[in-house]
Amino acid sequence: MSHAEEDHEGTRRDFLYFATAGAGAVTAGAAIWPLVDQMNPSADVLAASVKRVDVSAIEPGTQITVLFLGKPVFIRRRTQEEIEAARAVSLDDLPDAIARNENLGEVPADDENRTLDEAGEWLVMQGVCTHLGCVPLGDAGDFGGWFCPCHGSHYDTAGRIRRGPAPTNLPVPVAEFVDETTILLG
Ligand code: FES
Repeated sequence: MSHAEEDHEGTRRDFLYFATAGAGAVTAGAAIWPLVDQMNPSADVLAASVKRVDVSAIEPGTQITVLFLGKPVFIRRRTQEEIEAARAVSLDDLPDAIARNENLGEVPADDENRTLDEAGEWLVMQGVCTHLGCVPLGDAGDFGGWFCPCHGSHYDTAGRIRRGPAPTNLPVPVAEFVDETTILLG
């Protein structure tokens, strides 16, 4: 496979990491795995549960999926184009105008209020559709972000619902960078 092909593969692939976890988390992971497996057919490795995530290997335009407290969490490193697309959206065009960011409280759903860093490169969200809980697919949908095929919800490059039955944006969990390449969840 050429380098270019590898790069292309990298933009389409969601990774799940397996990590050590307590019995409760493993049980939760096992319960959710069939769904994750089904919705992310290209996933390479399953994660039981992680709290500190090394993001040093994530290239712009790709994402990983980790399991935290029994739920998938998407960590995406966005390209400049994805950032610009998200920031060009008017709040009036958003079905849910609230950021749904646990780190900020109830603030408007501007792209700047959804990302982990000021530049907007890092987006961390629960990978659970706000309609009925399926796991949306990355790099998909009419808005270049995520698509939930269960009933057709389209999310944009900031994880905001734009079309379909999902009522709210994908939630942003408590998260922070604890050093240049490590995100701490929770
Ligand atoms: S669960 Fe995602 S659209 Fe219904």
